Amino acid sequence: MDKYVINGGKPLYGEVTVSGAKNAAVAIIPATILAQGPCLLENIPEISDVGHLFEILTMMGATVRPVSGTSVFIDTSDLSSHKVPEDLARQLRASYYFLGALMGRFGEADVPLPGGCDLGVRPIDQHIKGFEALGASVNIGHGYVGIKAENPVGSHIYFDVVSVGATINVMLAAVRAKGLTILENVAKEPHIVDLANFLNSLGADIRGAGTDVIKIHGAEQLHGTNYSIIPDQIEAGTYMVAAAATKGNVLIRNVIPKHMEAITEKLVKTGVSVVEYDDAIRVSGETDSFQHVNVKTMPYPGFPTDMQPQMTTFLSLAEGTSIVTEGVWDNRFKYISELCRMGASISVDGKVAVVQGVPALSGASVRAADLRAGAALVIAGLAANGKTEIEEIHHIERGYTNLVEKLRSLGADIERISVPDAGPACTG
Ligand code: EPU
Repeated sequence: MDKYVINGGKPLYGEVTVSGAKNAAVAIIPATILAQGPCLLENIPEISDVGHLFEILTMMGATVRPVSGTSVFIDTSDLSSHKVPEDLARQLRASYYFLGALMGRFGEADVPLPGGCDLGVRPIDQHIKGFEALGASVNIGHGYVGIKAENPVGSHIYFDVVSVGATINVMLAAVRAKGLTILENVAKEPHIVDLANFLNSLGADIRGAGTDVIKIHGAEQLHGTNYSIIPDQIEAGTYMVAAAATKGNVLIRNVIPKHMEAITEKLVKTGVSVVEYDDAIRVSGETDSFQHVNVKTMPYPGFPTDMQPQMTTFLSLAEGTSIVTEGVWDNRFKYISELCRMGASISVDGKVAVVQGVPALSGASVRAADLRAGAALVIAGLAANGKTEIEEIHHIERGYTNLVEKLRSLGADIERISVPDAGPACTG
């Protein structure tokens, strides 16, 4: 039961470099199954979700070898199984990308229903709709999704909801299906474009990624590649908000400023200074007070749901009342009760949080309910007066590379400490 201990109230100063994007890496790593040749992936984030995907690939017969720093060699030519082991798959959401990748390579897949953050109901009906349209039969039983598709053929698929996961999974399944596949009402997140670029570098023919319609001409064979993953939009956004909330001044490097526009716009409205460079952003919160602003999360290019907890935490310190509306997930306000333990004044009604700004937060013992909830509590701890202890940090380490080291290099007083397991707790 390791935890973070933060002595807050110190502005962050200096420079930090953003790592490769989690949600691109967790799609591209399973996608290497489609390559009939070795792949060298660069700018891979050092996070536990990635570690689990490497373990799954290795158990299935792939060669996975770190090359240097953040580069990894992956060769799936000798993959001997189309079944994904259950224990590992349940550790993360992205294990479901093995469905599309294995269907694309073998026409067959057996993948456990995925895990991931508990953000409310997380159906996969749109993934299944896409696989079936390509000619697959899909069966769910004993906790597994089974796919059989002898001769997948291209199809015209209109998604009922905009889904990152379904867009990615069906792209993976369609990339080698015979003929033309047209996907409509797709997600447009930067990691969708990154996956399409990766697949095209293998010899796929995918056009339109980043727009509402993606067209895929099935390729008979795909080869190996060298590919560098884009920087993480949400990690960058988290450091932007941390700099603002602590009233610091931080240069955030390895950023694509275009990906940050929705976050930048809201921060600027509160009075934070944001200066964009080619591949960096400087954020300064060196001001007496911040102004309230309303935020509604939406699929890209809207304000990202994965930044909602961090932004709400910052707004809890802004003057006046901010309204934060969660437009993607049913249940993404579980961290609010923990923030309130730290002195925030926030009430939640369904998908809307009413944030009444307070002059300061105070340190407390809190628990991370999920990945971004944990990031929000780290920001709260950095900004708060006194000591904050955050438990359940394994959620945070699913998605942030070297968080403690990076924050310490910015002057934060944060430590990761190991605590012996106290045994089962009485929960009443
Ligand atoms: N949905 C359906 N049916 C489906 C799929 C999705 O109704 O078949 C609904 C969901 O219930 C949700 C909405 O569509 O209300 C959007 O879900 P989406 O499929 O886009 O989410 P996801 O693919 O499961 C990814 C990220 C999440 C991020 C969301 C939204 C990965 C591994 N996860 O999840 O990231 O919140 O997109 O941008 O890429 C995180 O990194 O902290 C995280 C949770």
